[in-house]
Amino acid sequence: MPAWVCLPLSEAKALASSGGMKRREFTNLLGLGLLAGSLPVAIAACQSDSTSEAEGNSEFTTLGSMADLVAQGSLTGTAKGQDLVVVRDSSISDAVLAVSPICTHAGCTVDWDRAQELFVCPCHGGRFNPDGTVSGGPPPKPLTTFEAKIEGDQVLVKV
Ligand code: FES
Repeated sequence: MPAWVCLPLSEAKALASSGGMKRREFTNLLGLGLLAGSLPVAIAACQSDSTSEAEGNSEFTTLGSMADLVAQGSLTGTAKGQDLVVVRDSSISDAVLAVSPICTHAGCTVDWDRAQELFVCPCHGGRFNPDGTVSGGPPPKPLTTFEAKIEGDQVLVKV
């Protein structure tokens, strides 16, 4: 009898005890049944992991409060070793933008100029918009950006 034939366990035991199936065939059949039976559990475990990632909060880090962001004009901090600056996106209400403060020209740390709503580099005058794009000066490319969001009064960043 080929090993891929599916029988209920009670029938397989009866067949084995009647001599119609060798012990090795019975063991193979039993092993195949256990493997097939555990497959839905393995799939369910994988699905629950991807669901929690899809919900997305596992990779976000709290950088500070919205109250501090409003009072100071920006939030600075570190998440997973990455220096970050978060500012409000004035074009969209209740939206925040997160960037790396490292200038893409020569690596100096940019400062947030609240009055001009620009990141300004003190080394060679590079300027960046709140979304990190280059506004002027020698920087060859935008600041690195990160996903950010507001939850309640907390500002969260995904690094
Ligand atoms: S290092 Fe920022 S403009 Fe040169």
